[in-house]
Amino acid sequence: MHQKKWVIGNWKMNPATIDEVWSLCESLKGELTTWQDWQQKVAVAIAPSLLHLGLVDYCLAGDDGTHDLPIFLASQDVASHDKTIGAFTGDSSATQIAELAEWTLVGHSERRYHYGENDEILTAKIKNAFEAGLSVVFCIGETKDEYEQGKTKEVLKSQLQLLAQFAQAVSFVEGMPFPRLIVAYEPVWAIGTGLTPTLSEIESTHQFIGELLSDFEISAPILYGGSVNDKNAREIASCQGVDGVLVGGASLKAPSFIEIIKAFCA
Ligand code: PGA
Repeated sequence: MHQKKWVIGNWKMNPATIDEVWSLCESLKGELTTWQDWQQKVAVAIAPSLLHLGLVDYCLAGDDGTHDLPIFLASQDVASHDKTIGAFTGDSSATQIAELAEWTLVGHSERRYHYGENDEILTAKIKNAFEAGLSVVFCIGETKDEYEQGKTKEVLKSQLQLLAQFAQAVSFVEGMPFPRLIVAYEPVWAIGTGLTPTLSEIESTHQFIGELLSDFEISAPILYGGSVNDKNAREIASCQGVDGVLVGGASLKAPSFIEIIKAFCA
């Protein structure tokens, strides 16, 4: 159904310096320019810190300012209060982001837990993003306690509910080269820990998410995220219902990120 697999790098609050951002971009650009087979099979996106979004855009752009590599850019966050401008210190609006990026993450567990982002805030963010023409990577996932208590599906069902109201906005847009929505399933206990669910757990959870989305008449790629690396990417890529991955730590080194892209080309 979804022809291309997605590999999205979430750089979080990394790297520390402009020099490091530049050299990471240069390494990625070097690898992805010499080996171009990935372009048929995988859509690649990078979500740097907002401070570095313009720099990454500049580095990956061709001399004439157009991207010579089809790498999408994503913001890690978007303002909830207003979609354009306003007196919201520290925020960046969907309209501002849409000048540089095609995507924004919404609902990452680090935003839910460190910044108290609840369904009301996440709904406003998604609405602003869609209205400004940004596509959304909506992240969901259960905590370790919820997983151990067998509540994964119940939690995911409740986190996904707010998407029902966006079915219309998500539907296919003529001429748009990528979907409006991606859902990323990221168990909180798997993020940055080296732990992952079993492959059959991933498959059954993805199937469950797909069924819920189709109840809302939404069709969206479903990505797995949480400790994806160059060693486990191939087996995760082989899972039924996994349309790609959202990668944190392993996206900060060009060789491991490239290996993950290769795993999804196989
Ligand atoms: P990780 O992070 O790959 O470092 O576990 C994934 C994420 O938080 O998106």
